[in-house]
Amino acid sequence: MASNPRPDAPVNSKPHRNTIFVEDAEILARQEFAAQQFIFKFAAPKCARAARPGQFIHLACDSNVPMRRPLSIMRADAQRGTIEILCKATGPGLTALTHKSIGETVSMTGPIGQGYTPHADKPRTVLIGGGYGVPPMIFLAEHLHGRDDAPWKPLVLMGSELPFPFRTRPSTIIVDGMPDGVIASLTFLDEQGIPSRLSSRSDFPGCHDGLVTEIAGAWLSTLNTAALKEVELFVCGPTPLLKAAAQLAQNFGVACQVSMEEHMACAVGGCAGCCIPVKTPQGTMMKRVCVDGPVFDAYAVF
Ligand SMILES: Cc1cc2nc3c(=O)[nH]c(=O)nc-3n(C[C@H](O)[C@H](O)[C@H](O)COP(=O)(O)OP(=O)(O)OC[C@H]3O[C@@H](n4cnc5c(N)ncnc54)[C@H](O)[C@@H]3O)c2cc1C
Ligand code: FES
Repeated sequence: MASNPRPDAPVNSKPHRNTIFVEDAEILARQEFAAQQFIFKFAAPKCARAARPGQFIHLACDSNVPMRRPLSIMRADAQRGTIEILCKATGPGLTALTHKSIGETVSMTGPIGQGYTPHADKPRTVLIGGGYGVPPMIFLAEHLHGRDDAPWKPLVLMGSELPFPFRTRPSTIIVDGMPDGVIASLTFLDEQGIPSRLSSRSDFPGCHDGLVTEIAGAWLSTLNTAALKEVELFVCGPTPLLKAAAQLAQNFGVACQVSMEEHMACAVGGCAGCCIPVKTPQGTMMKRVCVDGPVFDAYAVF
């Protein structure tokens, strides 16, 4: 597990100057999975030392692709100096990246942005990831789990219509409120003692046949008022998932942080191309998703 700084600083308090590095990152590992999904491991020691869950890198995928592409950090190992990402070859940028081989080098800028901020008084953390929102939840789950200095107990709920690019198994850990037969978990989380459940409408065995927010709601329904005060949702994925999770949080009166999606040009705060309206105590203000986010309080953005 990566050893990263304790993450319970106030949201958006971290300065971003002199904390973003540019490195020539060698590809150390490349794994291909169903439906054009890939996991890459890069050597990027400066980025790995500074990375926190919810932050991302900006990658020059190929010399023929003019713009860098943002990718969430799935794991950062400060000791080994490595960064892992999960990507799906969608358009020209990530497709070019997936054609690269072990030993090749790409230019990596990172870590970028304000990540998730767990709060010590909210130890019941629910990590909800959908699609390419899965990687930051893995980083956050492994970061929070088993810390000597903190009380967090992550529950990981993932949704995907593509085959999960990880081994799955019937869970050995009971999760309250799950519908009958919803037993599939990510093996590597289950082995670490981190409870997880999966959802998909693609008929995968042991998964909830529906939306990931439905199983989150089923679990929340098992809690009393005192327990709900200790809950915080952390969410990443497509905008409809973020909105559904924000609504769920409102229904149950629980805290919620979401990682916003925006098209990005510079990704270092210079072009203002990624601005969104965010409610603040001073009124609604335009904030840059790249450096003021990507993680925001759900109540401030929805
Ligand atoms: C903070 C952040 C973290 C990300 N993390 C990951 C990740 O871990 N893994 C991963 O596979 N992808 C991730 N993405 C998305 C990825 O960076 C984009 O899809 C990227 O544009 C893909 O480049 P491309 O050239 O392959 O495809 P493109 O041709 O650029 O895009 C493919 C399709 O995705 C749409 N699209 C592109 N960017 C966005 C966006 N930001 N929001 C909504 N739709 C978009 C385009 O309109 C197009 O339809 C992330 C994006 C952001 C902003
Ligand atoms: S992408 Fe340029 S300011 Fe965010």
